Parts: sequence; structure tokens; C-alpha cells
Amino acid sequence: MGPNLWGEPKYMRVLELFCGIGGCAAALPESAEVVAAIDINRGALAVYSSNFSHPVDVRTIESIDVPELRNYKADIWWMSPPCQPFTRRGRYRDDRDPRTRAILALLDPIKRIKPPYVIVENVPGFSGSRTHGLLRGMLDKAGYEVEEHYLNPAEMGIPNYRERLFVVAGRDKLNPLKVKRRRAKPLSSYLDQDPDPRLIVNPEEEDIEKYRHAIDIVDVDDPKDITACFTAAYGRSLVRSGSYLKVDGDQLRRFSPTEILRLLHFPKSYSIPAGLPLGSSWRLLGNSLSIPSVEAALSQIPDLE
Ligand SMILES: C[S@@+](CC[C@H](N)C(=O)[O-])C[C@H]1O[C@@H](n2cnc3c(N)ncnc32)[C@H](O)[C@@H]1O
Repeated sequence: MGPNLWGEPKYMRVLELFCGIGGCAAALPESAEVVAAIDINRGALAVYSSNFSHPVDVRTIESIDVPELRNYKADIWWMSPPCQPFTRRGRYRDDRDPRTRAILALLDPIKRIKPPYVIVENVPGFSGSRTHGLLRGMLDKAGYEVEEHYLNPAEMGIPNYRERLFVVAGRDKLNPLKVKRRRAKPLSSYLDQDPDPRLIVNPEEEDIEKYRHAIDIVDVDDPKDITACFTAAYGRSLVRSGSYLKVDGDQLRRFSPTEILRLLHFPKSYSIPAGLPLGSSWRLLGNSLSIPSVEAALSQIPDLE
């Protein structure tokens, strides 16, 4: 590709805000360069840095001022702000939840800097929130072309449900959305050959019977079974946090972090550092992104191939 929109050669420059473990970086084509990946979570950034050499910064997004943001000269601002304020678990507190402070703090800089492209990813409950209204109002007023899409890997031939809303905004015309539909692969192809015995749920330690009716259980022999959305609460909460796999007889086991990475379609080269506790791995993965959905959202950006 030619010069980017800031007149510099070769790459589309990407500012990865709320970068977590790098779901956006993992989906970017070679022609893009992450100029900064920013998050407050040191653990997430350690995983990020073990997979990518992009510059990372541990800090709050609210602490970055307009000149600093302008200095990144980024063509694309990617934002995956915390979703809890827009979920039942977070009691839909929206802009009354301090976790929306960072995304709200970015509205004025976007209006002033007018980056060529802005993408915001969040849970479906973000739609119609006051925060969503403020973001849309600012983008519309600043003259962006804006499209919104609900994307779900379960509708792309992947046995994992993870519906997310993507707000894609461009100063110039956006490409039509391109969603790659792949040939469905069975759940068995996502599983570890030799699963870690720690994944087995021990009914003596966890009150599995009490919640059995509410737990999402998938059966590897059922070709239609689709895993539920894995959230940051997986491993801590038995219900509404992800699926359990039926193993011998009545036994259940959890999905391993590598299996979840595969279900999210992270590249094969991506890994969670050995020794990271299961609980931390599940928390980080539950906050991350399904790569095919990110690729679909990025397909709207002209010149990004
Ligand atoms: C939904 S997760 C996004 C994860 C990321 N997309 C990924 O692929 O892993 C939200 C992230 O925002 C970070 N975060 C929350 N509040 C923040 C703030 N005020 N400043 C910077 N990062 C923040 C959290 O640590 C978390 O990693």
C-alpha cells in the first residue's frame, strides 16, 4: 500500500486503546502497524508483550492528553472499553459506572483530532445506552460516516457464540462490510488432545448439582453444539460465564485457555505464557475478542489489506 493518511510511507498506523491481550493486534494484516497499545492491566500487557513487539504503555486512557494522542498520528483508533457498565452483571449502570470514564474522556479528543477511522467494540447492551448516544452524537456531528454491526462467530461457521456490537466510523467512505463465512468445523477440532486434569469439575468442591439446570453443557458428539460466550467470570461463576464439556458419563470439564484461544480464532503462533494461572488466563481471554469479528469490522477500512 502507499502512504498512509498522515503522509508517511508504508503502514496504516493503529492506536490500540484498552488493548488487553491484543485481540485487535492479532487480527491486523501485515500492512498495519500498532503505534501504541495502552491498558491499565499489567498482567494483560505482559501477555500482549509476550506475543507482539509493539510499544505498550501501562496507564489510564483518561491520563493521555490531546497533544499526546495527536502525536501518535494514528490512522485507526481501536477501542474496546470495559463492557460491565452495559451488562446485567454490571447492572447497566452506563455512564454512572466509573468504568465508562475512559471512553467518555476520548470523545472530545476524537472531535478535535478527527482520526481517519475509529472503531468501538462492545457488548450488544452498549446499543441505546447514554454512552453510545454521546459517542454517536459526537461522530455524527464531526462528519464521520458511521456503520454499526452486530457480529457473532457463531454465524461464521465457528462453534462459539460471542455477539458484539462494532461501531465503525470513517472520515471518508467506508468499504462495505465483508464477513468471511468458513466451512463449519466440529467442536472436536478445537479441543486439546490431552486435556489438563485440573479442568475436571469436582462435584465435592463445587455445587454443580444445584446449578446443573442453568449451566451451559456442550457435547462433543453433537455436531450442532455451540459453546456459549466465555466471559471474564469463567472459572469463578458456574452460570452465564461460558460452556462446560460433557466428558465420561456425568462428568463435566471446563475449556482450557488454549481451547478458548482456538475458539476465538487467535493465530496458531499466539500463546498464553506457560505458568500463568488458569484463573488469570480465563479472565484475560473472557475480556478479549473473536478474531473473525475484528477482521470483519476492519474490512470496512479502505486500504487495509
Ligand atoms: C473489554 S477489555 C478489552 C480487551 C482487549 N480488546 C483484548 O483483546 O484483550 C477492556 C480493557 O480495558 C482496560 N481498561 C479498563 N479501564 C481502563 C482505563 N481507564 N484505562 C486504560 N485501560 C483500561 C482493562 O484492563 C481491559 O483490559
